[in-house]
Amino acid sequence: MTTHPVSADEHPDPSAIRWFHSFKMPDGTVFDGVKPLDIQLEEADLIFSGDLIGKSVLDIGAWDGFFSYEAERRGAGRVLATDHFCWSGPGWGNRDGFDFIHRARDSQVESLDIDVLDLSPEALGTFDVVLFLGVLYHVKDPYSCLEAAARMCSDHLIIETVTALPLEPLPAMRLYKPGELGGDPTNFWAPNLPALEVMLENFGFTSVEFLASPASPKHPLTRSRIATMRGSNGETHRTIIHARR
Ligand SMILES: C[S@@+](CC[C@H](N)C(=O)[O-])C[C@H]1O[C@@H](n2cnc3c(N)ncnc32)[C@H](O)[C@@H]1O
Repeated sequence: MTTHPVSADEHPDPSAIRWFHSFKMPDGTVFDGVKPLDIQLEEADLIFSGDLIGKSVLDIGAWDGFFSYEAERRGAGRVLATDHFCWSGPGWGNRDGFDFIHRARDSQVESLDIDVLDLSPEALGTFDVVLFLGVLYHVKDPYSCLEAAARMCSDHLIIETVTALPLEPLPAMRLYKPGELGGDPTNFWAPNLPALEVMLENFGFTSVEFLASPASPKHPLTRSRIATMRGSNGETHRTIIHARR
């Protein structure tokens, strides 16, 4: 596992990095990524609502590592950031941003270039807290990938995902045509909340809590029941899910 990534002279100028996450550095410099900093900070407060002190955290699909570094900042004992698609796979990103922040913060966050389905508790152990944020709708086989994330978790799995079919009471997932969801051809499936509940129960979680993401101000969870019933079943929202063993 990499604890210190690449040497300083291999690091590009931060202005040359294509940032996905946004960061505000201690000197006030802001790196503006695709994901707005205010949404990241609001999400972090909902994701890390519990006590992280001394806990082990696995961040699956960490990309530039905002949530890995945030877990470290909030007192996690050990953080392992993993990715593959956007570090060395076919995604448009790379790990320059992750490595830049690692060096700038003199971080102890560990990293491993590995795909979700290759994560193994036998090889890596299990983690108190597993983050599976913004990944589920990108994978072709969401059931197996969620199961792989769950296997790595001894206590608390936190998912952030696009959810669909808000009016469908049966557990279901919607499949999108290439580019149909958010104009991104790497988006495939979005489950509804009952489907997430069934999957998480199947994977051994006894408590499942759904929260509206700050990125979805019109989420059905924040609306009255009557307003929700008038909504379209074609709507998608972003949801944060806390699942506990
Ligand atoms: C939208 S980003 C989310 C980054 C971060 N976890 C967050 O929530 O801000 C999607 C992440 O999923 C990872 N990923 C893993 N498997 C993927 C796949 N098959 N297709 C697209 N992205 C994938 C990407 O590498 C990327 O880091």
